[in-house]
Amino acid sequence: MQSFDDILKRVGNTPHISLSSPNERVVLFAKLEWFNPFGSLKDRAALWMIKDAENRGVLKRGQTVLIEPTSGNTGIALAGVARALGYAVELVVPARVSEETKALMRSLGASVLETEDDLCPRVGSGTDQCIALAKSIIKARPGKYVMLDQYSNEANFLAHYESTGPEIWSDLKDITHFIAGVGTGGTLTGVAAYLKKKNPNIKVIGVQPQKAHHIQGLRNLEESMVPELLRRRLDLIDEWIKISDKEAFEAVRFLAESKRLFVGPSSGAVYAAAQEVASRLGKGKLVLIFADDGRKFWSLYKQFKVFTREEFEYYRRNARYLPENILFQENIVLDRSAGRLC
Ligand SMILES: Cc1ncc(COP(=O)(O)O)c(C=O)c1O
Repeated sequence: MQSFDDILKRVGNTPHISLSSPNERVVLFAKLEWFNPFGSLKDRAALWMIKDAENRGVLKRGQTVLIEPTSGNTGIALAGVARALGYAVELVVPARVSEETKALMRSLGASVLETEDDLCPRVGSGTDQCIALAKSIIKARPGKYVMLDQYSNEANFLAHYESTGPEIWSDLKDITHFIAGVGTGGTLTGVAAYLKKKNPNIKVIGVQPQKAHHIQGLRNLEESMVPELLRRRLDLIDEWIKISDKEAFEAVRFLAESKRLFVGPSSGAVYAAAQEVASRLGKGKLVLIFADDGRKFWSLYKQFKVFTREEFEYYRRNARYLPENILFQENIVLDRSAGRLC
């Protein structure tokens, strides 16, 4: 049993590990964001956005319902963090989100509403069903619901400017390149702004998936509009690299087979992009964000034949750096009154 306060204190301060590189003059480090209590980098954004809304007096514990359109990790993080702080959560998700992800949201106490959207909600297009549905629910019950809107919420940027960026700088210092995937752009712009303040020569590389992709959490900026949060600081991004589903899944398999790392698909995409960068550089120190681990992706990995069931279990069991976390314990019970998550 752990108290809610203990759980929320464990957001951030995730480890960095070194990875071998295809170029001996280039060193690679990965920041393992699945060490956050609810399993991804989104715990930071959820905590910062809720705390910011509380500070602005927008939320009332025990009364406000948080509603958010999301394709995965934000939903899980919001469900966990918001419940820990005393708010109910309703999540509007595209039906294509993996069954495991939806089950995790529900097991953390969130209500899950499904729409027929693409995997990543199309921000601002006006046709996006997740966003439209969330907005219509808010309109029907004024005063009851609050949508934090991770796509434009400055606290999402600040989460990474105030925590992820400083952690990277204090652990790794003289880095030359930072590489991360883009969903809302919170991670990429928050870390970029901090690192470039410390050393303006650091290059920031954003990773996008192909069109009609299957990489949960990432966004192709041609088929989906640029989120407001990213648009505000687009000039911080020095280069974009596009990765196909096939390249991302091959990297997921390679990391499991050769490094005993059991990663989610977006980490595969980031690793594939880093290989490209490392092989063309004379010298460098690259930091990669590994956003979540592979445990909630069995149905996806099965669909794309990344692993057989036996391989999936084998690599999961034998993985390095895969801590027990709240999400993957059996029978999670959230009991706010007892102040415990068991
Ligand atoms: C697995 C995964 N990788 C990367 C990202 C990108 O994060 P951001 O929204 O900060 O751009 C997300 C966002 O949800 C994610 O879920």
